[in-house]
Amino acid sequence: LTNEELYRPNFHFTPKTGWMNDPNGMFFYKGIYHLYFQYYPDDTVWGPMHWGHATSKDMITWKEEKIALYPDEKGYIFSGSAVVDVNNTSGFGSASNPPIIAMFTYHDIIKDKAGALDYQSQAIAYSLDEGMTWTKYEKNPVIKNPGIKDFRDPKITWDAIHNQWIMVLAADIETKIYRSSNLIDWELASAFGKNLGVHGAPWECPDFFPIKVEGTTATKWVLLQSINPGGPNGGSATQYFIGDFDGKTFSLETSFANDLKQVEGLWIDYGKDNYAGVTWANISAADGRKLFIGWMSNWQYANKVPTKAWRSAMTIPRELKLITVDGHYRMVSEPVKELDNYISKTIKKKLLTIDKTTVIADKEAIDMSSLDIRFTMNGLKEDNYDFVLSNKANNAIHFGINKKDHYFYIDRKNVSQTSFSDDFAKNSTKAPIASNFNSIDVRVIIDKTSIEIFYDNGKTVMTEIYFSDKPMESLSIVQANSDFELKNLVINQIAVK
Ligand code: FRU
Repeated sequence: LTNEELYRPNFHFTPKTGWMNDPNGMFFYKGIYHLYFQYYPDDTVWGPMHWGHATSKDMITWKEEKIALYPDEKGYIFSGSAVVDVNNTSGFGSASNPPIIAMFTYHDIIKDKAGALDYQSQAIAYSLDEGMTWTKYEKNPVIKNPGIKDFRDPKITWDAIHNQWIMVLAADIETKIYRSSNLIDWELASAFGKNLGVHGAPWECPDFFPIKVEGTTATKWVLLQSINPGGPNGGSATQYFIGDFDGKTFSLETSFANDLKQVEGLWIDYGKDNYAGVTWANISAADGRKLFIGWMSNWQYANKVPTKAWRSAMTIPRELKLITVDGHYRMVSEPVKELDNYISKTIKKKLLTIDKTTVIADKEAIDMSSLDIRFTMNGLKEDNYDFVLSNKANNAIHFGINKKDHYFYIDRKNVSQTSFSDDFAKNSTKAPIASNFNSIDVRVIIDKTSIEIFYDNGKTVMTEIYFSDKPMESLSIVQANSDFELKNLVINQIAVK
């Protein structure tokens, strides 16, 4: 099999050629989801950043479009966001043709190389053709660098509660919150996070938005805040904070502040490969979802993974929700429902009592490289429940639930391609099990080079990539010390043309 046949995902976005990192500028308009991304077209390693562009009707099937933003004399085009300026507050468009406004970081590479500190500033561009072509604002930057080395990744949201645009920016070890009435003039409102959450490396790629608390009429504000390195399993990861926003200042929910004293951060995803994820702008109130996508890699090894023509994929798009569990606020995420439209075949099994190694699915019955598998595990004890996705060439990725020692895990040591980086598979990765249970719902999304596991309706998520020499052939559960039930098994084939 060619590198392309082995490693190009079936249903996760990848650029045709070149290097990709963070998702940028996502907005929804006139039935189209737009995804821009950190892009270097001339090589498969990180380089002078552009914004690549792709469009989709459902976030699953993507069409790659022309490059949206090119680097220029002011610098590389680093991460940022885009909004639909519905009321033309910026004046760049008209009421009948609202402009799309993108805000990004200029990374001035000449200043950077000369040893200056103030090489990152914020700039805008506008599109009058629904995001297809862009004009950079002639008076850029709109926010100059105040002498902070890491000062980047502006994420704008329309704050309907306080009737203003707000923008969050990663500024060294905190998040700065700005506000504006016209998307051009920005006022610094406050800063958040200096002594909160996980630190030790610059914060990157924040997102800040209101969200309904499931099952109530209350609204809370969520700050997503990526950090690299500093993730729970090393390298890149995205922590979150929950609180209230008065239009200027974000203050942590008391119970959440207390929770943070017990753990090393709370994370959107505990796997190694979900970074810099943010949400789509301009989702209609009628839809009301918070739709998220992340970069499915990690700076520890992103530049070295064994793909040839391109590097990196995005995660499956996810819907984020805010729930309360016994008085604690938690973010949960699950694949967007649009994925269901691509189910081409389903195998269902009612009940299996597992008392020895049991095959859940194999290539005789279904193509193992494109699956959405769901089941419930019942009667769990203080045991280890080990799932193995493998092939006859002895490539195997293990994942599961170690109830005895209270963690979920993924172990990719025995998937053939690991030597490109010590950080890739040296340790198995873990997510804490916070509460006791003897029954749990599990959903596993498998593509050619990725596995995304959603435990307990997305309360704990683990996303990781893998590279095997041969396609995977079966998924089994290895015998635990005691019998248990695997119920309501649904194995869906995902087919994306
Ligand atoms: C995060 C990041 C951003 C930056 C971009 C550069 O992965 O480091 O902070 O804007 O990538 O490509």
